[in-house]
Amino acid sequence: MIHLAERVVIVTGGTRGIGAAIAELCAELGGRIVLTGRNEEAGTMIEGRIRAKGWAARFVQGDVTAPGFAAHLVDDVLSHEGRIDVLVNNAGILSRTSVADCMDAEWDSVNATNVTAVFQLCRAIVPTMRRQLAEDGRAGAIVNIASDWALVGARNAAAYGASKGAIAQLTRSMAIDHAKDGIRVNAVCPGDTETDMLLSERGEEGRESILNRLGKTIPLGHVGRPIDVAAAVAFLASDAASYITGVLLPVDGGNTSW
Ligand SMILES: NC(=O)c1ccc[n+]([C@@H]2O[C@H](COP(=O)([O-])OP(=O)(O)OC[C@H]3O[C@@H](n4cnc5c(N)ncnc54)[C@H](O)[C@@H]3O)[C@@H](O)[C@H]2O)c1
Repeated sequence: MIHLAERVVIVTGGTRGIGAAIAELCAELGGRIVLTGRNEEAGTMIEGRIRAKGWAARFVQGDVTAPGFAAHLVDDVLSHEGRIDVLVNNAGILSRTSVADCMDAEWDSVNATNVTAVFQLCRAIVPTMRRQLAEDGRAGAIVNIASDWALVGARNAAAYGASKGAIAQLTRSMAIDHAKDGIRVNAVCPGDTETDMLLSERGEEGRESILNRLGKTIPLGHVGRPIDVAAAVAFLASDAASYITGVLLPVDGGNTSW
């Protein structure tokens, strides 16, 4: 059975979209959720929505690219929740340019959010998970949100594709290095998923038109929902996946199987 009873679960970028769905599902499965994000109003709203259902959630405001954020978050969670069982690195930004059109600032900001912040949070959390292994035999699990574009190329997504490819390899490297520490590290690779990120990049085209058009290109015939990604994350975070580490799990309706 998949459950996260009493597990302390950090979700970055948990204030909307896939991150909010992960936070809600992990809370429903018994987790004590710490959701982070930049938008205080949105974070407080998601926190309230989860608590209203009788589940545990706490919002910590912050930008994953801010200097010192990783250390601050770990300190904050250890002082409030006492341990960290699961880290979900979900916060991410999209950019749609080819190499020829990608400015340095765009490259830097995509990689700062999608790669460097993930590396820094993982690095900050490993010592806590190692200590937990020594104390009670339960280290923890990390789930990184990559993308189907970590697995295949895409037009006009040079910086984004490179950043998600980096996450795929960071996941595999960490899985090998930290298996001895009892830390499992996996990645979920969403395909087109109905969130602000997907809808905002399509300009004037309406929601239904976008979903219909993209749905026709996907083997399962429709765009994914945030809960589809959340379900894969919850599985990989739970003990049901206790012999799984270093995998890149596509949740893309078969789109990378063409
Ligand atoms: N939606 C898709 O089709 C799709 C496909 C593949 C991968 N993904 C990945 O899934 C993850 C979630 O994306 P989404 O679709 O929910 O997008 P979204 O834009 O709706 O949500 C992204 C979240 O990350 C947060 N975030 C971004 N930069 C941040 C920062 N510096 N500090 C703190 N929070 C920050 C945003 O505020 C937001 O809450 C991302 O990593 C994205 O790359 C999404």
